[in-house]
Amino acid sequence: ASPTIKLNTGAEIPLIGLGTWQSKPDEVINAVEYALKEAGYRHIDCAWAYGNEKEVGEGVRRSGVPRSEIFLTSKLWSTHHQRVEEALDESLANLGVDYLDLYLIHWPVHLNPNGNDPKFPTRPDGSRDVLTEWKLSDTWAQMEAVLAKGKVRAIGVSNVSEKILERDLLPYAKVVPAVNQIELHLYNPQVKLVEYLQSKGIVPQAYSPLGSTNSPLLQDETASALAQQHGVSTADVLLGYLVAKNIVTLPKSVTPARIKSNLEGAVAAAKKLTKEDIAKLDGVAASGKQNRLIQPPWGVDLGFDNWPVR
Ligand code: A2P
Repeated sequence: ASPTIKLNTGAEIPLIGLGTWQSKPDEVINAVEYALKEAGYRHIDCAWAYGNEKEVGEGVRRSGVPRSEIFLTSKLWSTHHQRVEEALDESLANLGVDYLDLYLIHWPVHLNPNGNDPKFPTRPDGSRDVLTEWKLSDTWAQMEAVLAKGKVRAIGVSNVSEKILERDLLPYAKVVPAVNQIELHLYNPQVKLVEYLQSKGIVPQAYSPLGSTNSPLLQDETASALAQQHGVSTADVLLGYLVAKNIVTLPKSVTPARIKSNLEGAVAAAKKLTKEDIAKLDGVAASGKQNRLIQPPWGVDLGFDNWPVR
């Protein structure tokens, strides 16, 4: 089983959860069922925008693991910022549950809900149709309201930089976000942001911890050398590196053997990696291998320091 850490709500969250972005609907049912029933996962991360919430819910039911034992997260999509409760109700219905353990604002960006596409509206010039006059704090107030109603047990954000948190959210928030889910891995460790979040009691969560599809990270020399030294896989080192920092880590897989090894391997590697090993791994990005992998076109103004200039 995964070790847990405490959120600022007092609830425990398993440090390792199953990611479901890019898991095809027909694959994710089995992946979730296997993760819960066979591999000992108790934490599933999903989102409305992934288009597979119904199948995630089906996997949860087929697993037979009681709802109360599972930490379940979903996310508010960017075209739904004006109707948080309705969007949440849709996610709850998709999943077939009556509460979430955690609900996140997927991006601190409001895309036009009346645009030419319900998910990714574009402007005539091809850029994303972003509503710049909308205030993130208004969305957050609605998040606080669904928390107060008991429909979710914790609320948080995703893809939020220190700049946006300090400028647009924390000054207006009655409830401090429980987590911030961001792209975190060997080539994008965001060490300063992680330390900042932890200093505020906001738990950092890592998406794409293995570097997503066709990952260059699995071939990294420093990680591979440490893997060999400790008798674990390179994937284990990549995950253990984050877990050792108390970062909630969300590896995605639809492959049973990987689902199993990602949990066991991450826990084992986190114990084996020394302070010196972690410093060595921090040094990989510090020495120039900075590489953000997930770069949606609305992300350029989000205040992250290594967002590539287009
Ligand atoms: P698959 O789902 O086909 O098993 P991330 O978590 O960074 O988004 O990475 C997910 C990608 O890494 C997916 O393509 C997944 O493939 C693959 N993957 C997951 N676990 C492992 C592993 N232990 N070793 C190699 N590749 C993995």
